[in-house]
Amino acid sequence: MQVVTTIAEMLALRHSLLGQTIGFVPTMGYLHEGHLSLVDRAKALNDCTVVSIFVNPTQFGPHEDLAKYPRDLSRDLLLLAARGVDYVFIPEVRDMYPGGTMDTTVQVCGVTEMLEGALRPGHFAGVATIVAKLFNIVRPTQAYFGRKDAQQLAVIVKMVQDLNFATTVVPCPTLREPDGLAMSSRNVYLSAADRQTALYISRGLRAAHAAWQEGLRDRDNLLKIVREEMAQGDFAAIDYIELVDGESFATERQARLGSLIVVAAKVGPTRLIDNILLD
Ligand code: PAJ
Repeated sequence: MQVVTTIAEMLALRHSLLGQTIGFVPTMGYLHEGHLSLVDRAKALNDCTVVSIFVNPTQFGPHEDLAKYPRDLSRDLLLLAARGVDYVFIPEVRDMYPGGTMDTTVQVCGVTEMLEGALRPGHFAGVATIVAKLFNIVRPTQAYFGRKDAQQLAVIVKMVQDLNFATTVVPCPTLREPDGLAMSSRNVYLSAADRQTALYISRGLRAAHAAWQEGLRDRDNLLKIVREEMAQGDFAAIDYIELVDGESFATERQARLGSLIVVAAKVGPTRLIDNILLD
């Protein structure tokens, strides 16, 4: 496995890989099995695999956890080498953002206006801008994104469509702990008690999904199931529980195939998001 630490080196490497299909998994590190499931897919379906690790400062708000974001580069590299990754791209902040900021940003409208976009102003501009930069540097054939971050996935799909990136975005299922908790780098912050509370998110989503499968379609009744399950946990805040269209993220009154139930909640100081696809 080759570790690449500068944009110049990555561009030269990409040039040498002409003619090969490249599977790309962008990450912020502190890898878990969720990330690694994306890596496995990239590896299975492409000639070579590139994983980036970059804790992107521009997608964190001023009061968010950028400084505290968990990092363990040596562990990440061991995990990626064990999965047979070919190249790991670990750029420096000063290489990605010379001078600290950028005059050019990518703003995806519409899908960024609600839920995460409304609660975290600037977050999706930070995500879209860094992913656009990474796509231009790595020029992947396919890029793998988790459904866990469903609104982020919708933003990237729209950006790729609107700006004609020559990359296919591949959505991948959410990996969960055996008890149902969606895997997340931020789970490391959860105390044992927080962890018990956090479980009510996936329990609520699963219960609503079961009701959907039994024929329930009405938004208010579906969301009530999630809310009642979550009422049993000691959440510091529930930011939203909503039924949305999986592409536009517009709120829906009636669930349809492809709708999502999305949740964001704070457990102690830790903010968690999760969702379930009504399939
Ligand atoms: P990060 O949170 O590290 O996630 C990297 C990728 O792993 C994302 O596509 C995310 O959806 C996916 N992922 C996270 N948890 C998952 C799980 N439990 N199951 C399946 N996939 C999971 O998302 C980001 O980084 C950043 O915003 C990034 C796209 C790298 C841009 O900076």
